[in-house]
Amino acid sequence: MPELGVNIDHVATIRQARRTYEPDPVWAAVAAELGGADGITVHLREDRRHIQDRDVRLLREVVSVKLNLEMAAAESIVNFAVEVRPDQATLVPERRQEVTTEGGLDLLGSSLPAIQRAIDALKAAAIRVSLFLDPDPKQIEKAAQLGVDAVELHTGQYALAQGAARRRAYVALLDAARAVHNARLALHAGHGLNYQNVRPVAAIPHMRELNIGHAIVSRAVFVGMQEAVRQMKALVTLPNEDPANHLA
Ligand code: PXP
Repeated sequence: MPELGVNIDHVATIRQARRTYEPDPVWAAVAAELGGADGITVHLREDRRHIQDRDVRLLREVVSVKLNLEMAAAESIVNFAVEVRPDQATLVPERRQEVTTEGGLDLLGSSLPAIQRAIDALKAAAIRVSLFLDPDPKQIEKAAQLGVDAVELHTGQYALAQGAARRRAYVALLDAARAVHNARLALHAGHGLNYQNVRPVAAIPHMRELNIGHAIVSRAVFVGMQEAVRQMKALVTLPNEDPANHLA
């Protein structure tokens, strides 16, 4: 059964809209833990548009479940992570103009040396490393050679697609998940998951961790963070079902 990592970036986004002190993502993390979160995820972006250095330092003190830091493979952020020591770092691509992370890392392009340097520095600091990848067999094959612990499959395409396109995207996730498991890497997934589409992804064999932000924070506006996490945790931990049920 997968664990639920709750991404609280959007709480910081609301705070930054007024450059004030509330709502505090640290409070959100505590409420998420009370609701059953197995992990707290934050993305410290190079442009600091939502989560700030102070948040990560305080979360390191306060969070008692797994702290997962999403980050670019940039030297200054890697140095920060090595100093603060989250339990896990998830390397993601980052572009200034994007609204959210738009695709997985490209392990076959010119950014590989920087990614490998980041992996080596993080591993030397005893931080688990996960790579955010599209469900692409070539990327997963390469990931298996880099000395990482996990791959987080990008579920954005699955989440956005409808009908036959969604079934195709789901089959791509199933195939990629098998490849990640066969490479002896832990299987994570995230992006665009919500209360309507999470079940099929939670049912993928060997799924270890789901990272979910937007849907949970959106529901928390109306029902509170603790209750929003409780409802998502209930969906993620329903008894295992056959993924084939979701292909019909
Ligand atoms: N996983 C990764 C690597 C992400 O970049 C994000 C978005 O910050 C998420 C999961 C969560 O996505 P969402 O907010 O759509 O649930």
